[in-house]
Amino acid sequence: MSYAAVKGTHDLFADEADGYAYIQSLFKAVAELFGYRAIETPILEHTEVFDRSTGESSDVVRKEMYTFLDKGNRSVTLRPEGTAGVARSIVEHKLYATRDLPLKVYYAGPAFRYERPQLGRYRQFIQAGVEAVGEDSPYLDAECICLAMAVLSMLGFDKLKVRVNTLGDEKTRAAYKEALREYFSHHIDDMCEDCHERIRLNPMRILDCKVESDQKIAEGAPKMRDFLSEEADARFYKTLSLLNEEGIEYEIDDRLVRGLDYYGQIVFEVHALSPSGLDYGALLGGGHYDGMLSNFGGPKENDSGVGFAMGVERIYSLLKEMGHMEDAGHSVDIYAMPIGEEVLDDGFGLIGSLRAAGFAIEMPYHPSKMGAMFKKAARSGAKLALIFGRDELDKGVVQLKNLKTFEQKEVAIEDLEETLEGELSALEEEHHHEHCDCHDHGEEK
Ligand code: HAM
Repeated sequence: MSYAAVKGTHDLFADEADGYAYIQSLFKAVAELFGYRAIETPILEHTEVFDRSTGESSDVVRKEMYTFLDKGNRSVTLRPEGTAGVARSIVEHKLYATRDLPLKVYYAGPAFRYERPQLGRYRQFIQAGVEAVGEDSPYLDAECICLAMAVLSMLGFDKLKVRVNTLGDEKTRAAYKEALREYFSHHIDDMCEDCHERIRLNPMRILDCKVESDQKIAEGAPKMRDFLSEEADARFYKTLSLLNEEGIEYEIDDRLVRGLDYYGQIVFEVHALSPSGLDYGALLGGGHYDGMLSNFGGPKENDSGVGFAMGVERIYSLLKEMGHMEDAGHSVDIYAMPIGEEVLDDGFGLIGSLRAAGFAIEMPYHPSKMGAMFKKAARSGAKLALIFGRDELDKGVVQLKNLKTFEQKEVAIEDLEETLEGELSALEEEHHHEHCDCHDHGEEK
């Protein structure tokens, strides 16, 4: 019998694991620049947490949740997304009462959806997201979109536009849903089974039905923007004007309703085709929500929030195709090559002190032949080698070899740290020049 990972899940190792870690650490660093702090909630939640917030009419809750009874006969669910658990946690710990509002948090971790696995769509995937909860402001909404775009731009995406739409306030949505029911009721016989349910539960869901013939019918549907209350309209355009000021490019997409039920006011998604024309799906999606904390017994005042989550797999696949993932892995910089068993102990001490000084360095764990050590050094990605036998150490020196040019020089151990620092920063500089467009040739690399 052979074992393989469960369908729709995958193991991460080597370059991919490095790439995922790099994306998440950059995401965290940018979120911190915007004043967000870390939060971590359990992967496992009581099923009601998602029923109550993510929504009765969403496909995620209706069809895609990994829900099961635990040994105590309680219904639990592997989280399909991060927002509901964060809101549950904020209420449980009364963070809204003890912390300054808005509470701005970021998270990154696995989420689970029982979907048909396909390009960019997995059953276990990693979401990196943020939530800003406890204040209702177009500035906060705009800031959240700016953060999303800043993460993408720091990762190396440029010229990306964010798709935005408004789902208005409750008054708006009630009027709009009625208009949609009226419109779709004339076409329902030609629409898919799911849409028969959707017209009853939430006709806005029909707007993002994936069935092509239903999409055609949806094209003629009334537009949310014609139903916006005066306040919701002003709110939407205020947020857009802030995006203009920040130089964020967007397009308004009337059909963007998002797949989860909790949204109101502005919603957004970012899509990008890969260089080879593949569509991995939305890189990220999010929006504003109201009433989330009171769902879980929290306060009704200041009960607004905004957030987004990005799919780390999709971002990685795109960046890899764009050639931006080559430097994500951290190889060691230096390989130490002790000649002979009698200097292994000295070597062990030397690499210990160099590591303490912040150098990334490796050494073989058994006495090894020079040829074997050079092969290992090449595979490790090291740029420099330190070669030493008893003779060198007795003289207080080591041989320092550049593994690309094979130039070699003798360095006194007492000057070693300074010399290594100089050599590595020169190599770094060289690498930077080789890999960036700084020659002003005006062409893509
Ligand atoms: P979502 O649009 O359902 O929103 O998911 C966010 C992102 O997760 C998607 O844009 C996509 O990149 C990724 N994603 C979703 N499903 C899969 C899958 N099966 N395989 C791979 N990647 C996937 C949310 O989950 C909201 N909680 C976002 C949010 C936070 N809204 C407000 N705050």
